[in-house]
Amino acid sequence: MVILGIETSCDETSAAVVEDGQKVLSNIVSSSLSLHQKTGGIIPETAAREQIKAIIPVLETALSQSFKKPKDLDALAVTIGPGLIGSLLVGVETAKTLALVWNKPIVPINHLWGHIYANWLSNSQSPKFPLISLVVSGGHTDLMLMNSHTKHKWLGGTFDDAAGEAFDKIARFLGLGYPGGPAIEKASKGGDSKAFDFPRPLIDAKNYDFSFSGLKTAVVNIAKKEKTLTQISISNFAVSFQQAIVDVLVKKTIQAAEKFQAKEIVVGGGVAANVSLRDKLKATSNKLRINVRFAPLEYCGDNAAMIASAAYFNFKPKPISVIQANPSLHF
Ligand code: KG4
Ligand code: ZN
Repeated sequence: MVILGIETSCDETSAAVVEDGQKVLSNIVSSSLSLHQKTGGIIPETAAREQIKAIIPVLETALSQSFKKPKDLDALAVTIGPGLIGSLLVGVETAKTLALVWNKPIVPINHLWGHIYANWLSNSQSPKFPLISLVVSGGHTDLMLMNSHTKHKWLGGTFDDAAGEAFDKIARFLGLGYPGGPAIEKASKGGDSKAFDFPRPLIDAKNYDFSFSGLKTAVVNIAKKEKTLTQISISNFAVSFQQAIVDVLVKKTIQAAEKFQAKEIVVGGGVAANVSLRDKLKATSNKLRINVRFAPLEYCGDNAAMIASAAYFNFKPKPISVIQANPSLHF
């Protein structure tokens, strides 16, 4: 089955053609990141305007690179939420129009499921159930138990800031730029992760919830006491902060995997690119003989291939008239 995926939930405009949920024939991602770097964060209006300009060229390139014509497509898949309303509308209304004109089924997809299914892409071996999935992105930090594609249970999430959001806010505070995750990762090189003993919120709680805003405040309060922030102290702040986030994410994910006897852990979302998180989660799960896999780096950030994959494994087309963008969609 060949599915054309469309993703426009945040600042990326992406279209992809994916065969049988795993074989990526094309995946085009156009980002307005450089515009947002100038403003230190995403301006929703700017993102949506850029997406309107990008969507048709991105779709044309995705089709031509896949060597498929509209007649070869079995269905369309589109992200309906969560995300920025103006951005979501660009993808949703384009997908609905194409489905109408080409007379194809259309599958509405929750962006968060897309981040999970990024782990199925370009993998000859599919993840094995039961598994625990950790979604760590700019807007979400969630743990999910999956017994199969259709049987799953949301275990917990963040009460306040998402992991990526905390990275972005602290990077901004330390003057490291946007997006914060890669900036913190770069700044942390050469720093001492024990320089500051920042709080690890909820780390000992026997639940699967997270909270990162207290950690963020602790970093800001301690940093404000420093007379000047030198390169060394910025590195120490960055690496100590990153370590606190990684410790919490790893502890909670392993706790869930052990409790539900997971065969695998799968990690998706922008923060899944973080090397420190990858290393610590791999080391800890190896000891426990639990397999861990991370979405391939090219599919950690927002992309349409993961949306097409999610649609293949949960193929529930809906009438065009009921498909609507929903900025506050959750699991
Ligand atoms: O999944 P994503 O591209 O978009 C959302 O759905 O939110 O995630 C973006 C987030 C940003 O907060 C960014 O700072 C974070 O992922 N991120 C990272 C890294 N690369 C991106 N966080 C930590 N380490 C990284 N290497
Ligand atoms: Zn995302």
